[in-house]
Amino acid sequence: MDLNTIERNDPDSASQSAAAASAPAKKVFVKTYGCQMNVYDSQRMTDALAADGYTATDVIADADLVLLNTCHIREKAAEKVYSELGRIRDMKAERAAVGREMLIGVAGCVAQAEGAEIIRRSPAVDLVIGPQTYHRLPDVLARVRGGEKIVETEYAIEDKFEHLPQPKRAEMIKRGVTAFLTVQEGCDKFCTFCVVPYTRGSEVSRPVAQIVAEAERLADAGVREVTLLGQNVNAWHGKGEDGMEWGLGRLLFRLAEIPGLARLRYTTSHPRDMDHELIAAHRDLPALMPYLHLPVQSGSDRILKAMNRRHTAKDYLALLERIRAARGDIALSGDFIVGFPGETEADFEATMDLVRQVNYASAFSFKYSPRPGTPGADMPDHVPEAVKDERLQRLQALLLKQQQDFGLSLVGSTIDTLIEKPGRQAGQKVGRSPWLQPVIVDEKAGEIGDIIRVRITKTGYNSLFAELA
Ligand code: 5AD
Ligand code: SF4
Repeated sequence: MDLNTIERNDPDSASQSAAAASAPAKKVFVKTYGCQMNVYDSQRMTDALAADGYTATDVIADADLVLLNTCHIREKAAEKVYSELGRIRDMKAERAAVGREMLIGVAGCVAQAEGAEIIRRSPAVDLVIGPQTYHRLPDVLARVRGGEKIVETEYAIEDKFEHLPQPKRAEMIKRGVTAFLTVQEGCDKFCTFCVVPYTRGSEVSRPVAQIVAEAERLADAGVREVTLLGQNVNAWHGKGEDGMEWGLGRLLFRLAEIPGLARLRYTTSHPRDMDHELIAAHRDLPALMPYLHLPVQSGSDRILKAMNRRHTAKDYLALLERIRAARGDIALSGDFIVGFPGETEADFEATMDLVRQVNYASAFSFKYSPRPGTPGADMPDHVPEAVKDERLQRLQALLLKQQQDFGLSLVGSTIDTLIEKPGRQAGQKVGRSPWLQPVIVDEKAGEIGDIIRVRITKTGYNSLFAELA
């Protein structure tokens, strides 16, 4: 599993759609932690709740329902949720004092991993719901309002996507010109550091027709760029419209036919699942952006083996050569873990070497964090925290230098930019380069949703500045 994680409190992930006409509007506050899949899930939960009469709020004290969509990938994620729940419990008490209800729900990967333990430790919590049962949210809420406490973490037999309502078109338009679309969930690879196979379950691919229909709806609402999501997105497969078994490459060719969808991306991939057709898609599809997030985690074969990645550093480099031969301007991004149990200085140096050879345009790097229940947690020779800190600093300095050099290499060149939103400063708009960098342009350069040709004039810390070409 390799989706990138950042913590966010994202009012956009909660929709503002109109409440059901009959009931007085109830308000839901959703806080999203973790990866893009959680962002997508928060939207779909909000859509399910909109059908149940809830509108979104970004003021937690106003909320009749507070949902924490949690992440369990690293660190003391569960502990963070418990301390957040302590704060919310106090707000719940304040609302109760004036006769108003505040239901508290915990969703996501901590919910799946901890289950009933959450209500035992935080009795103010009313419901705990795992990622595979979000379509049951309205039912669960009805029971909660009847006074029950509910823990819903069984893997559902029915397909949740088929039961989750789609947002209204007006709502989709508000969400902007880029969108996520989950096509695959779960993981069967069992990397020894990773908790995902236990929280998201085994690999499931959504059917082609569902994906195409959702992509068409997005395009119809003005979306220009779709990012296909999956913990192992390139393990996606399904029966195609021609009756043949399709892989992600074939699916991308199909989605590229949808009018209006100008840009496609996918994340996150496993090196073992980069097949010939997917590489061909990079070669033949102009809509498939030349940017690939392909985590390697370590450059040491010994550590890769202990991580159960089932490839060597050489395999990874050879694969990149094939991908770069197919698409010359492709930029690479990756994930790295330092301080996996047993990692020596020589192992770490092998990672630094690999990074020097690949030259990443961006990357995410983390200190190994033992996850309860994963094989890595029980391995001998855990690396001292201070050593992890020191290695992470060295790795991040190198990756940052590569990222900045990549930005600088673009200065003076002419590139396409999708205009996404108004800039933070007056008079500016922000677009996105093919390589995911924010591109700052004059607001008159074009309208949101336009793809314009710009010349890069200079770089910022993480962004590019550009003028119309
Ligand atoms: N410790 C540190 N990093 C981890 N990741 C996944 N599990 C762990 C862990 N136990 C990182 C991997 C993965 C990214 C999403 O998070 O690099 O690709
Ligand atoms: Fe996403 Fe869950 Fe993995 Fe966190 S643990 S990165 S939320 S799938």
